[in-house]
Amino acid sequence: MSEWKNLTKSELLEMKSAYDKKYEEFKGLGLKLDMSRGKPSPDLLDLSVGLIDAPPTWTAEDGTDARNYGVLNGVAECRRVFGDLLGIPEDLIIAGNNASLELMYNAYMRLYCFGSLGSKPWKDLPNVKFLCPSPGYDRHFAISQAFGTEMITVPMTADGPDMDVVETLARNDASVKGIWCVPLYSNPQGVVYSDETVRRLAQMPVAADDFRIFWDNAYGVHHIFEEHEIADIFEYAKAVGNWDRIYYFFSTSKVTLPGGGTGMMAASPANVAEQLRHMSIQTIGPDKLDQLRMAHYLKNAEGIRTRMRMLGALLRPKFEIVLDILERELGGTGLVSYIKPKGGYFIAIDTLEGCAKAVVAMAKEAGATLTGAGATYPYGRDPRDTNIRIAPTYPSTEELGKAMELLCLCVKRVSLEKLLAEK
Ligand SMILES: Cc1ncc(COP(=O)(O)O)c(C=O)c1O
Repeated sequence: MSEWKNLTKSELLEMKSAYDKKYEEFKGLGLKLDMSRGKPSPDLLDLSVGLIDAPPTWTAEDGTDARNYGVLNGVAECRRVFGDLLGIPEDLIIAGNNASLELMYNAYMRLYCFGSLGSKPWKDLPNVKFLCPSPGYDRHFAISQAFGTEMITVPMTADGPDMDVVETLARNDASVKGIWCVPLYSNPQGVVYSDETVRRLAQMPVAADDFRIFWDNAYGVHHIFEEHEIADIFEYAKAVGNWDRIYYFFSTSKVTLPGGGTGMMAASPANVAEQLRHMSIQTIGPDKLDQLRMAHYLKNAEGIRTRMRMLGALLRPKFEIVLDILERELGGTGLVSYIKPKGGYFIAIDTLEGCAKAVVAMAKEAGATLTGAGATYPYGRDPRDTNIRIAPTYPSTEELGKAMELLCLCVKRVSLEKLLAEK
């Protein structure tokens, strides 16, 4: 198919009337489809019902009675499962409650309120800036916004954030205090950070002595089509004395159940000690019963990898539907571009400039809800209005197929209007 921008006005007009008709037919179907939620479907959750059925245990391997208060950094066997999986020493891991997002919020809030390792609290500084590789995860940006941080959009490339931009900003401005990163199968594009990106992030010169990389490895073992591994950012950072720069996060939300699981933070010894100092005021300990249950259920890294292969097998057909329909309906038209993710939870497309909002609105009117256009950028503003996040995990394959057909139709209709206006 030739690229639509090369078609004549009369060809475009002819297509438009055909697609207008198709869209009206879709509207008549009274659809109620949802591709907005990045959460597991019931069949994915069903894989973990054994976790709920497991008989309760409360004696940890070191004899700790997990029914009682204490053990601020989480039970050892749970930290070992994470450490084994991610290649991090268990004493540098703090196992918390279910949501890693809460751990990120707390870590950010502590930097804001108290500063870190002797640096000034961010609240006492005239301006604090944070680098936001975009498209990115809206809840990261929401945390920065909640603390009044100035967010700076950094473009994403197929290898991760544009490191020339990151290095220039971090090197020249001491008010640039950190960066949000989802290094493997990024939300929403599924980008895998290259070794070189990881190395540069860990080793780049920065002006702020309290620069922090929020390394949110939420999809660190969530392979679907291929199994990628991300370089060890701690190793790179340690090699040049930047160990304190890294705050590493992970959770079992999309390994077992987001409604009840275990999140973790890992960091340098100095950072771990500091976090625990703050935590000792905030809490007397996490939900250790849940941590024990999780450790016994998952057992070890191999147990998790086996489980992730089963989850990947359930997710693969859903990702294939999205990718196949995108290719069938829009391949060669020049109307969208996207990266084919190898894992993770999302697929993101970029429309022609100025079209994303209209596409999402049009899909909504015909019964398909997508993540709001703009949500993948700081302040909810996509400067070029191109990015649309597709979350294929929750709907059934049937619903997904219908929703994708409708989405592609909306892309065509909105693009036709734009192209016609330019003729
Ligand atoms: C990149 C990323 N980080 C964190 C989370 C939330 O993780 P948790 O359930 O551990 O809070 C999500 C959920 O969609 C996510 O996409």
